[in-house]
Amino acid sequence: MNKLNLLLGILLMTAFPVFALETPSLGLGKILFESVELGTKDRSCVTCHPHGKGLNMIGDFNDTELKDIINACLRDALGGQPISLESQEMNALVAYVRKFQK
Ligand code: HEC
Repeated sequence: MNKLNLLLGILLMTAFPVFALETPSLGLGKILFESVELGTKDRSCVTCHPHGKGLNMIGDFNDTELKDIINACLRDALGGQPISLESQEMNALVAYVRKFQK
């Protein structure tokens, strides 16, 4: 996980300098949403949710509920480890998927 964090940090600073300064969590959220490193099945969130597909009920959930759903997808759909509900990574994923809220 440390290696992943380091990689994410470097990616954020090099690929999204302005984005990262203004809205760090959205930039990080996008990287995580598209990363196959979160799981063990060579899939990312985008594999099943391209352009927010399947996320149309997001507006019905509060952040706590969304975090539980995201962890369920992380564990079951990606074969990865759930992440801490208070972590920067989790908050970034919530902020990013909220972009698809109608
Ligand atoms: C193997 C496919 C798959 C992957 C990969 C996947 N999901 Fe899901 N996800 C689903 C399915 C299926 C649902 C249920 C959708 C439904 O009920 O229409 C869902 C539901 C959700 C929901 C609830 C949205 C809603 O409107 O019901 C969120 C938020 C979500 N996923 C986020 C993520 C995130 C973040 C990732 C990456 C960490 C991810 N998902 C990876 C299949 C996947």
